[in-house]
Amino acid sequence: MEQLAQINAAATFIRKHIAITPRIGLILGSGLGALGEQIEDPVRVPYTDIPHFKTATVEGHAGQLLAGKLSGKPVLLFQGRLHYYEGYHMNDVVFPVRCMKVLGVNNLIVTNAAGGLDPAYRPGDLMLIKDHIKMVTDSPLRGPNLDTFGPRFNDMSAPYTRTIRTLAHKCAEDMNLSLKEGVYCYMPGPSYETASEIRMLRMLGGHAVGMSTVPEVITAAHAGMRIMGLSCITNMGTGILDQPLSHEDIMTTSEQVRETFIALLKRIIDTWPMNPESAQ
Ligand code: HPA
Repeated sequence: MEQLAQINAAATFIRKHIAITPRIGLILGSGLGALGEQIEDPVRVPYTDIPHFKTATVEGHAGQLLAGKLSGKPVLLFQGRLHYYEGYHMNDVVFPVRCMKVLGVNNLIVTNAAGGLDPAYRPGDLMLIKDHIKMVTDSPLRGPNLDTFGPRFNDMSAPYTRTIRTLAHKCAEDMNLSLKEGVYCYMPGPSYETASEIRMLRMLGGHAVGMSTVPEVITAAHAGMRIMGLSCITNMGTGILDQPLSHEDIMTTSEQVRETFIALLKRIIDTWPMNPESAQ
């Protein structure tokens, strides 16, 4: 089946199963899915039920879709994401974003666990993504362009919507929370980086490194969505501290900031402007 037909089939299936018209979409990273528990009367749809949807295979990624109201706004929340390193095609990784767009979602929030590159960062810090550097060569837009979503050569001058970043900082300030802002570097994984790679990324101007988010952001930017990216700094990049990295430690740190992370996101969603719907 052709790509667009698959996206439409999945979107039709989701529309039939949910009771709301979603306006904000969320894709949550490692250990950060708990926000889903805050949705009022959520409808749950396992990824395995949705036609053409792939399953999340990584620990800490539940692999289900939740639909309902969060901070009074109708949201579609993907609890667990698909990563390129799991062996999926980029089209599969960004499939949720395209489904959301077909369902009328024009606002996207993406979260992730990331390694800190900036020596001033500490595990447990939250970083708003200002911009990104894509170190993985494959693009989710490679191949025939899906003209219904956006142009062949799409602008990437401001994918992380400025007005939303301002709003996020205001929310953090109101909560007396420190919120960093920086450049997220997308590395392929699944190995963590070497100490030399971390030095290179720092020299390139990166503040954090991770293995996700950028494919979804490119696809959402192509489709003209407003985007916010939030990283939880779960560890310092390899070699910055004299210790090895493990997924367990990363999950433990994201658990520790969970409450703060949820509170900040809820406040951001609460104040998120719903009009104009699709403008940057
Ligand atoms: N590198 C890549 N991905 C990550 C890291 C890291 O240090 N921490 C959490 N996700």
